[in-house]
Amino acid sequence: MTKSRLQITLDGSHTLFNTFVDETYHSSFGAIQESKHIFIKHGLAHFKDNLKIVKILEVGTGTGLNVLLSYLWAEENNVGIEYEGFEPFPLQQYEVASLNYSELLSIKNEIFSLIHSNKNNEIELSNRFALKICKSQIQKAQLRDNYYNIVFFDAFSPVAQPELWTTKVFTKIFKSLASGGILTTYSCKGSVKRSMREAGFDIEKVPGPPGKREFLLATKG
Ligand SMILES: C[S@@+](CC[C@H](N)C(=O)[O-])C[C@H]1O[C@@H](n2cnc3c(N)ncnc32)[C@H](O)[C@@H]1O
Repeated sequence: MTKSRLQITLDGSHTLFNTFVDETYHSSFGAIQESKHIFIKHGLAHFKDNLKIVKILEVGTGTGLNVLLSYLWAEENNVGIEYEGFEPFPLQQYEVASLNYSELLSIKNEIFSLIHSNKNNEIELSNRFALKICKSQIQKAQLRDNYYNIVFFDAFSPVAQPELWTTKVFTKIFKSLASGGILTTYSCKGSVKRSMREAGFDIEKVPGPPGKREFLLATKG
């Protein structure tokens, strides 16, 4: 799962191509553009005016791009974040160093290094942003019930990782969400929608970023 090649996407931001699953970590139309659209604009931004602290769960933290964008959002909007990610295959140091996100987002490189520095312990990226990345598969995670406000479901595709896009995994996540919590993901596959509905979610299709017609927003009503 760990062999990768650096690629440049159409918005100028990097992604990695994982040779084990034959997929990139992000859309080739723009890594930053896609992550901002799906996880920030149509995800995190829901909570801007109604929560002082947003609790985020990410499935597959990978390059750390969603952590970085959430950090920026928290700083810009003066909102606290508790971020818990699950990533069984953390990047190698040279892979982290090759990514151009800090430069493109005008963030100190120390923040990006910090995101990747510490596994399984909570660290503070700022006084409003606490981060813990667990080196574990989401299937093995012990999640608190009724806890998270938002889940970034960012595993590899249902074709590459069918074991993750199942009713069983979505039920576990549904239980861990607080009432009114949401799950965002880039996939819009029929089987994914069915599994999410079986887990109890209400599903909405939302217009996607360039290169992607729609993506899924699932809500715990
Ligand atoms: C699409 S990529 C990562 C995207 C990531 N959010 C980013 O912005 O780079 C999917 C990630 O899921 C991770 N992954 C694979 N199996 C997993 C599992 N069972 N539980 C959680 N994450 C997993 C992969 O190692 C990879 O980093």
